Amino acid sequence: MKDRNTVIKIGGSLLFTEDKELNKEKIQNFCRILKKKKYSGYHVIVCGGGEIAREYINIVRYFQGNEALCDTFGIDLSRINAKLLISAFQDIAYPLVPKSIEELSTALLFGKIIIMGGLQPGQSTTSVALEVAEFITAEELVVLTDVEGIYDKDPKKFNDAKLLKHLTYADLQEIILNLHDDKQAAAGEYRIFDAVSLQILKRSKLHIRVMSGKDLKEFEKYWNGDENITCTTITE
Ligand code: UTP
Repeated sequence: MKDRNTVIKIGGSLLFTEDKELNKEKIQNFCRILKKKKYSGYHVIVCGGGEIAREYINIVRYFQGNEALCDTFGIDLSRINAKLLISAFQDIAYPLVPKSIEELSTALLFGKIIIMGGLQPGQSTTSVALEVAEFITAEELVVLTDVEGIYDKDPKKFNDAKLLKHLTYADLQEIILNLHDDKQAAAGEYRIFDAVSLQILKRSKLHIRVMSGKDLKEFEKYWNGDENITCTTITE
């Protein structure tokens, strides 16, 4: 089996149904897909906090908690989500959630799928995924989100939003800068690619694919080696 280090970022909301209940069938399906490994090498999953993290963050903010404190709630919730995935993956997963790059380096020695959440305040779990991908020199980082990739405008607000099939780092930077959104760097509000993500991306020269993780069909095709998938590819 060929070596291919991969990092997969899964948004926390993807673990829940539309009724905001934990989606155990989907978690089991994700696990089933990942069990069939086409490539050997390091495989790390980074789990987001999702809606539940934002709910906690909003209440902490209401209690006058500062953004750094809010971020710590996001980090804890993303780690709980990671722990839940570990329980579903059973013995194919490393049993602990690494809380730092140092802890990750120990976990890597065991040859299992590693599942982690956030690391430190001031960033999103996408930044964590990029840091991890840089650390393990991943061939590719896959970002699973609730839309089919990156669009020219918000697909949840505009019906005519177009999916962008390929982006360079410069294109991505322009999209992020054009968002003009003060909330972009608030806890719970970091967009698919926040500013920290962009900086790590530029120095690491990673190859990224952003695709839908809603029904996992595209992801399953991708994981089985199919190149013909609907997604946004980001390269230098
Ligand atoms: P994310 O915003 O990355 O979660 O992390 P997510 O699930 O990907 O979000 P959606 O649902 O797909 O949009 C949750 C929050 O945790 C904090 C941030 O406040 C972040 O918004 N966090 C996460 C950190 O402060 N540091 C980290 O390293 C990771």
